[in-house]
Amino acid sequence: MALKNVNPTKTTAWSKLEQNFEEVKNIHLRTFFNENLNRKEDFSINFNDFLIDFSKNRISKDTLTLLLELVEEVDLKDAISKYFGGDIINETEERAVLHTALRSQSNNEIIVDGKNILPEIKKTLKKIEAFSNKIISGDWKGHTGKKITDIVNIGIGGSDLGPDMVVDALKYYKNHLNIHFVSNIDGDHVQEVIKNLNPETTLFVIVSKTFTTQETLTNAQTIRKWFLNSADEKAIGKHFVAVSTNLKSVAEFGIDSNNIFPMWNWVGGRFSLWSTVGLSISLAVGFKNFNQLLVGASEMDEHFKNEPFEKNIPVILSLIGVWYNNFFGSETEVILPYSQYLNKLSAYLQQAIMESNGKSVDRNGNRVNYQTGSIIWGSAGTNAQHAYMQLVHQGTKLIPADFIGFEKSLYANEEHHNKLMANFYAQTQALAEGKTREEAHLDLKHQGKFNQIEKLLPFKVFEGNKPTNTILIKKLTPKNLGSLIAMYEHKIFVQGIIWNIYSFDQFGVELGKELAHKIYANQ
Ligand code: F6P
Repeated sequence: MALKNVNPTKTTAWSKLEQNFEEVKNIHLRTFFNENLNRKEDFSINFNDFLIDFSKNRISKDTLTLLLELVEEVDLKDAISKYFGGDIINETEERAVLHTALRSQSNNEIIVDGKNILPEIKKTLKKIEAFSNKIISGDWKGHTGKKITDIVNIGIGGSDLGPDMVVDALKYYKNHLNIHFVSNIDGDHVQEVIKNLNPETTLFVIVSKTFTTQETLTNAQTIRKWFLNSADEKAIGKHFVAVSTNLKSVAEFGIDSNNIFPMWNWVGGRFSLWSTVGLSISLAVGFKNFNQLLVGASEMDEHFKNEPFEKNIPVILSLIGVWYNNFFGSETEVILPYSQYLNKLSAYLQQAIMESNGKSVDRNGNRVNYQTGSIIWGSAGTNAQHAYMQLVHQGTKLIPADFIGFEKSLYANEEHHNKLMANFYAQTQALAEGKTREEAHLDLKHQGKFNQIEKLLPFKVFEGNKPTNTILIKKLTPKNLGSLIAMYEHKIFVQGIIWNIYSFDQFGVELGKELAHKIYANQ
């Protein structure tokens, strides 16, 4: 069944939120904390290894109540059951949206086109496992009898960003295989990757859901030619595998049918790392770790499906996002993982979030008269502090931030980790509290700058009142990473429901592709 169709701005909750905004917009976070000494506990959620502290947001208890009324009015409950149940909620492409089925740990049937899809998912996972084991153990030999040492993932967008981000994030858990990613159609990208590779010991994984993407097919053909300089066609079977829904085109490319890892139309590219698109992840960290990623995501799925909305992490984070986007008029959100391993998380989330909710037509086909998807950006802290955080602290824009940190570091280097986390907490405190005129005055006095106080004072004041979510996780494990990614996936879903848009198509990228083809043909 189709999703319901509710204009959020016509709900009673929305009008009440508009009134509430007038009451709350000038209240400083310092005041919120002074008035409620339990604010941190009242505005926190625990889930497995996660603590989500959303107390440093410009919301009152009433705001939260009204935001929760909003999701009742747009009938989020009904939407969640359609999402997990395999209803055709991607209506413009006439597809179900079932990346959650890929990681389901339950045996409950999920029916698509009259067929339970779970057996095929399990069979494909087994194929990923068997293949990963053979490559990692060295049982699989290249065409000259040598073991595989290098893997090249050829894909773009969802067929690149997810695996690339996860392989980087789980570097600590990596085996001996070297994993490379080729995505850009810029020929220098592919040349830089292949220039130091030995074709005899390299496996190429061509990842394209549609197997029509210009970048991926061009890169794959270039690599194929390069490979055939030192091998004959028969060798391809030992060195090329493909992930796709388009089995016909993969076969035409010359890939052995045993080397095809199937994908399904009910998995969106930007949500596909849980599928065969994650093959490079399984090769890099082993199937056990890949499976743990799925388990973590599945646990977040269960939390999202079952927790009451006031204790539901993706729901709360979505509502807070809507609050800044639609009431405060914030244009962007910054995502700041305090872990170098997660440096690519924001780039990955840019596609997931912006390709999903960058829409301006509602589910009735009408242009919306309210804001939808935010602009997402960010990178790892502490580096971010020495790059753009000045603007977040003292600029004119209100930029809500997600701070993601880990209680323990992987190499247990306490000195470094304590310094890292001191910065993590310092940033959220500085953003929330700021520094008053009086405090800045006192600082300048202590520094002995008596003659410059009047001149410097305006520049030394921090307004504060800058909102943050603190996402504190025990440790960066494959399972916790799975939960973290799934958390953002469901945040995307909830916001799409509230904004009454279709989150799972991406027609906006088509026009540029069409024109590029025309321009190229006429060159
Ligand atoms: O950028 C548009 C897009 O269609 C993405 O949605 C997708 O992840 C990417 O291209 C790659 O598509 P494919 O896996 O079909 O090559």
